Amino acid sequence: MPTLLVTGANRGLGLEFTRQYLAEGWEVIAACRNPGVARALKDLAAHPPGALRVTEIDVADTASVKRAAAALKGHRIDVLINGAGIFGGTGQGIGSLDYDDWMEVLETNLLGPARMCEAFLEQVARSERRIMLTITSGMGSLADNTSGGYLLYRTSKAAVNMVMRTAAIDLQSRGITCVVVNPGWVKTDMGGSNAKLTPEQSVSAMRRLIGKLTRADSGRFYNYDGREFPW
Ligand SMILES: NC(=O)c1ccc[n+]([C@@H]2O[C@H](COP(=O)([O-])OP(=O)(O)OC[C@H]3O[C@@H](n4cnc5c(N)ncnc54)[C@H](OP(=O)(O)O)[C@@H]3O)[C@@H](O)[C@H]2O)c1
Repeated sequence: MPTLLVTGANRGLGLEFTRQYLAEGWEVIAACRNPGVARALKDLAAHPPGALRVTEIDVADTASVKRAAAALKGHRIDVLINGAGIFGGTGQGIGSLDYDDWMEVLETNLLGPARMCEAFLEQVARSERRIMLTITSGMGSLADNTSGGYLLYRTSKAAVNMVMRTAAIDLQSRGITCVVVNPGWVKTDMGGSNAKLTPEQSVSAMRRLIGKLTRADSGRFYNYDGREFPW
C-alpha cells in the first residue's frame, strides 16, 4: 500500500489525514513534536496493527527534520503532506507588528515545508505517486485579500505558495507533483468552533483531490473541494 508522511499529525487536520488514510489501508508516518504525549495518535495505532509509525519532527528545527529524514532513509513516501502550522499571536497589524512572533510563524509555516520537501526529496522521488502537498490558506492568496490584517500568517502562506510553485518547476524532472491546498475554514484548534467544515469533511474532500492529482497538476493552488484557487 502507499505511504503517507504528514506533519502536525497529533491534532487538527494532520490527525484527520492520519485517521482517514489508515482507514483506507495506507501506511502512515505521523510526525509530531511530542510523540510521548500524542494520545490521539496512540489510540490509532491498533487499527490496523503496524500501519502507523509515529515520528518526532519539529518542522521549525532543521536538525529535527534532518534527523527524521535520516532515520527514514530507506523508505518511500508516496504523499508528503505539510500540515503543521501556526497562526501567530495578536501583533499582526501594521502599527502593532510583533517581529519575534513573525519569525516564529515563518520558521514554521514557510521554512518548515521547505525543510520537509528538501529532506524527504529522495524518499518521495522513489515512490509511485510522488506528491508533495502543503496545506496553505486562502489567507495566503494575494488575489483574495480584500480584508487585510493578519500579516504574519498571510505572508507565511503567500511565501510558502511560492516555495511550492517553484518546487513544482524545479522537481519536474524528478516526476514530483507539488501543490498547495486551502483546506477551507475548519473546526480545529486553529479554525475555532464557528468554522464551516468539520475536519472529516475537509480531509475527505482533500483526499478526493489528492487521489486525482497527476503530474500535469503540479504547481497549482487548489481549494479543498478541487476547484482552483486564485493566487
Ligand atoms: N483550521 C482552519 O480553518 C485552517 C484554515 C486554513 C489553513 N489551515 C492550515 O491547516 C494546517 C493545519 O491546521 P489545523 O487547523 O489542523 O491547526 P491546529 O489544530 O492548530 O494544529 C496545528 C498542528 O501543527 C502542529 N505544529 C505547530 N508547530 C509545529 C512545529 N514547529 N513542528 C511540528 N508541528 C507543529 C501542532 O502541533 P503541537 O500540538 O505540537 O502544537 C498541531 O499538530 C495549518 O497549516 C493551517 O495553517 C487551517
